[in-house]
Amino acid sequence: MDKKRTQWGSNFGFIMSAIGSAVGLGNIWAFPFKMGQNGGFAFLIVYVILAVFVGLMIMVSELAIGRRTKLGVLGAYQKISKRFGWIGWLAVLSPLILLSFYCVLGGYCVEYMCYNLSEVAFGVGAGAADAGETIFSNMLSNQLGALIFALIFLGMCVIIVKNGIKGGIEKFNKIGMPALFVMLIIIIIRAVTLPGASEGIKFMLEPNLEPLKNDFIGVISTAGCQMFLSLSLAMGAMVTYGSYLGNKENIVKSAGTIIFADTLVAVLAGFAVLPAAFALNGSEAVLSGPKLLFITLQDVFNQMGFVGPIFGVIFYLLVIIAAVSSAISLLEVIATMIIDKREAKNKPVDRVKITAYICIPVVFLMAIVAIDGLGANGMWTPFSKSVGIIGSFNDCWLDFFDTLAEGILMPIGGLLMAIMIGWEYGTENIRDEIMLEGNKFKLYKLYRVCIRFVVPVMMLLILFGQISEIFGLKLL
Ligand code: PHE
Repeated sequence: MDKKRTQWGSNFGFIMSAIGSAVGLGNIWAFPFKMGQNGGFAFLIVYVILAVFVGLMIMVSELAIGRRTKLGVLGAYQKISKRFGWIGWLAVLSPLILLSFYCVLGGYCVEYMCYNLSEVAFGVGAGAADAGETIFSNMLSNQLGALIFALIFLGMCVIIVKNGIKGGIEKFNKIGMPALFVMLIIIIIRAVTLPGASEGIKFMLEPNLEPLKNDFIGVISTAGCQMFLSLSLAMGAMVTYGSYLGNKENIVKSAGTIIFADTLVAVLAGFAVLPAAFALNGSEAVLSGPKLLFITLQDVFNQMGFVGPIFGVIFYLLVIIAAVSSAISLLEVIATMIIDKREAKNKPVDRVKITAYICIPVVFLMAIVAIDGLGANGMWTPFSKSVGIIGSFNDCWLDFFDTLAEGILMPIGGLLMAIMIGWEYGTENIRDEIMLEGNKFKLYKLYRVCIRFVVPVMMLLILFGQISEIFGLKLL
């Protein structure tokens, strides 16, 4: 049991991995549209305020709890709290659910990359300006294909996670994240120079106070939910990554850097996707969710002539990297939890076997989502209203899982965590952890007030916002 816990190889490696977890589909296909729809620049300000007063506080807490207990999320919660130890289970269940549809969506991205690659090679379909819709619906109804590619995506994640924190996750992100950034810049340069691009930028940035005036709680709830998902909070990811941190690491500074980078990529993604989408059909184009990526943008690439598929390959590869780096953090939450349990019982730890076992429930859930094909194949679904930010089809299994994980489990997990730290475990324990090895915690007083009061109130608002939307009630 007193075997020394693995640590990240470097500060850069840890930061890249945490940014990798944060930067995902949420940044690329949800944030730009949410921002444009909910007040533009005004929404960004609300988002940043929430990210600082709620997101930063929770992220700091998660990293500190992980490092203090040196355990994954389940063990960590059980160690620090008698009453709330069971929240750890929420943080194990949600990643499992999220992973199931992340793999299917990641698989779709692999399919689209291959499609564009085949166009580079053979010029297939070049010039078919509105091919996007057909390719997309063919892909959705091709259930076996969707399942195979979801398995390929999961396989890539397994290969990374089985190699461990340093040799797998850190190695991948150290190369993947800078590469993603470079690819994003290439796509932005192409997108903003398309005719009509300025409309897209205007849609995203133009400040508009109307949404805030008309539905303040709705905007807060949207921004809060987006922020939670985007920063990978209340899913055990940051507790898990934190458990591999060395004591020298400045947790507050790291959390600030992760949040800054995640928000930057979200806004930059807007510059990559919205100008292109608007250049195609103005505001008529689908601007968010899977349809943005798989119909609107594919049409844009198809209209660019022979360079189109090259940009297509770069773009879908970028999205694949973003999705893989998030999915591996979800897989690692569960892997670390099992490894900790086995180590505690002095049982042998075989990462390859453990990762393979985790795939059993993931493949089962993933198969449901893949076969359902975003509702295209007429399967029965549990309920119809979606509030998640990843989905947006309604009436499909992906949206059901998404709503369950990010609409309900995540805000409940965040709320209970803040109550546990603020009112039971004690913020001073977090402070002591953060201040190890001479690190400062200048924001401590603010942190204490936020965790005890601001975060729980905001989490309640977010939760009420979600529930009222799911059930069509007007609670507030
Ligand atoms: N942050 C990811 C995104 O923006 C989603 C995610 C949540 C990944 C929680 C890992 C853990 O899409």
